[in-house]
Amino acid sequence: MTLILGIAGSLRRGSYNAALLRALRELAPASIVFEEASIRGIPVYDGDVEAESGLPEPVRALKEKIATVDGLVFVTPEYNNSLPGPFKNAIDWLSRPAADIPRVFGGRALALCGATPGPGATNLAQVAWLPVLRVLGVRPWLGRFLSVPNANKFFDESGALVDEKLRERARAFIAGFAEFAVGSQAPRSGARSEPKASGVEKV
Ligand SMILES: Cc1cc2nc3c(=O)[nH]c(=O)nc-3n(C[C@H](O)[C@H](O)[C@H](O)COP(=O)(O)O)c2cc1C
Repeated sequence: MTLILGIAGSLRRGSYNAALLRALRELAPASIVFEEASIRGIPVYDGDVEAESGLPEPVRALKEKIATVDGLVFVTPEYNNSLPGPFKNAIDWLSRPAADIPRVFGGRALALCGATPGPGATNLAQVAWLPVLRVLGVRPWLGRFLSVPNANKFFDESGALVDEKLRERARAFIAGFAEFAVGSQAPRSGARSEPKASGVEKV
């Protein structure tokens, strides 16, 4: 069974990105298992904490979860035309130690999407993730684009995705990604060593 893990990069209670993630889970094909993970509880990265105590427990747990999945969906907000700090901070922790990157992220299918109440649709945030994905050594899926502007028009007050056209786009997005992720079939043992994360040596 193909296992996909979605992570929303916002802690906000009424997060549109968390709402989009829930919609993707609802609309995912029955042939896959779609789980959600949160970045809640991950502290601000501090190299001294890492050197003295290693990885905080929420980071350790999320790392080991990621190491078992076939595909990842990053549902990203956009902050100041770029990556949202809390999400990037979580990925920074998850990339430590760098020698673990191939085991945790290497070769895993990854899709990006995002939502904003603004007009820019998270396009710039999604582009800003690309160099990070290169360091992680994931297999990015670029088959479809799911970038939601004016999110307040598409989600109701409970966070449900109520726009029929966008629901169809979200359904096609997650179905297309599931097909791609099946092809990757990352090993469940977490023992993956190939392909190498291409940028690791340089960071
Ligand atoms: C520091 C900060 C910077 C932001 N910059 C952008 C931006 O560049 N583009 C944009 O569309 N929205 C921007 N926003 C608005 C966010 O898209 C909005 O807060 C959104 O609801 C965040 O995602 P969430 O609903 O998942 O929490 C910014 C918000 C914050 C707090």
